[in-house]
Amino acid sequence: HGTSRVNEQGHLEIGGCDTTSLAATYGTPLYVYDEAQIRAKCRSFVEAFSQTGFSFQVAYASKAFCTMAMCKLIEEEGLSLDVVSGGELYTALQAGFPADRIHFHGNNKSLDEINMALDAKIGCFVVDNFYELHTLAEVAKERGEKVAVLLRVTPGVEAHTHEYISTGQIDSKFGFDVQNGQALKAIRYAHESNHLHLLGVHSHIGSQIFETDGFLVAVKRLTELLGDAKDKHGFLPEVLNVGGGFGIRYVEGDTPQPAETYIKAITDLVREELTAREIPLPELWIEPGRSIVGDAGTTLYRIGSHKEIPNVRKYVAVDGGMTDNLRPALYNAQYEAAIANKMNESATEVVSIAGKCCESGDMLIWDVKLPPAAAGDILAVTSTGAYGYSMSNNYNRIARPAVVFVKEGEAELVVKRETYADVVGHDLLPKRAQLQR
Ligand code: LLP
Repeated sequence: HGTSRVNEQGHLEIGGCDTTSLAATYGTPLYVYDEAQIRAKCRSFVEAFSQTGFSFQVAYASKAFCTMAMCKLIEEEGLSLDVVSGGELYTALQAGFPADRIHFHGNNKSLDEINMALDAKIGCFVVDNFYELHTLAEVAKERGEKVAVLLRVTPGVEAHTHEYISTGQIDSKFGFDVQNGQALKAIRYAHESNHLHLLGVHSHIGSQIFETDGFLVAVKRLTELLGDAKDKHGFLPEVLNVGGGFGIRYVEGDTPQPAETYIKAITDLVREELTAREIPLPELWIEPGRSIVGDAGTTLYRIGSHKEIPNVRKYVAVDGGMTDNLRPALYNAQYEAAIANKMNESATEVVSIAGKCCESGDMLIWDVKLPPAAAGDILAVTSTGAYGYSMSNNYNRIARPAVVFVKEGEAELVVKRETYADVVGHDLLPKRAQLQR
């Protein structure tokens, strides 16, 4: 994928950098991001929209991978940014990301987070529920401001990887329910509030979606809702946000569509449905996360011990695991791997890749075909760019890996490897006498 290839030494090369040298220089585990690949993904969404005649914003969902360098890259590509917490917002602001292109999501924003975002003058809040709607109106009133909002609605489409199920009664912690009238009530409240500026509505139906159908059902529900909002409350939207969720390839059999396919299907239907309701076309926003960074990331590990159970299985262990990639343990997520220093050797052995955490469920890949592995080899697990680093953790007091961006033969360290001192950095030894004996 991207700019990766096998070089003359038979090593995996990404962005012109030999991954075995990267492992030697920066240590392992190491997250390697192909910068050109991320930029190409950003551009594919922008280009797809440019052909539709719609005004648009592509907001990168930073939860997929949020660091200051990534925020900077997103700014350079002219995208907007979706944040869901004070921490993501802080990261973006520290990177100098333009506040007016930040959209603030989340189902339980604290007062501190709301004030932090208002102080920074972010672009808009995506309001999730009545509690937040009322709180935000109250805070805006106190501050004497008018706050731009989108309302997150639950259109009753639940996307489950490849398929989706349409549910009559929605059971989700997110958003205003369309079918029981909550969404319309929220629209009326926000539209009539003196302290809120209602831009429009938002929906997000799920993640790692391959088909366009789920998005189209959501568009139908959203445009019906906007029809009602126009007829009953005279509301005309400036923005329609259809969320993220565009899938990527992890393993053989995954069949994501090009950005263009999703965008064309969505924009065609939005145009048709809104025109039929005599609603002027709003700006169309999307929020891709995984599809921007997922397949641009590769994790490098060093292989250590192995254990063979005759006629059962061979375990090969690496120096990371569920601390740097929680997805296999959490979702049973599948990945592919290669031995970065043995790319030209044939895959003759089926092994299972174990992490080093003290937990049986810490398995990165079951049954992967590789060349015979030896201690010291570098294992490259591909498509780890989304929700890997961002969900990393310090279980077993393991330090988080470093992150490098590679491009045209140059590597740039963008997140330093944590040290043990970092790991204990917030610990305090109790001062109480009893514990000092
Ligand atoms: N917008 C909203 C409102 C979202 O909730 C999400 C993801 C996105 C955009 C971005 O979705 P994407 O394009 O990345 O699929 N940790 C899980 C994924 C959780 C996604 C949560 N929301 C995983 O590792 O698969």
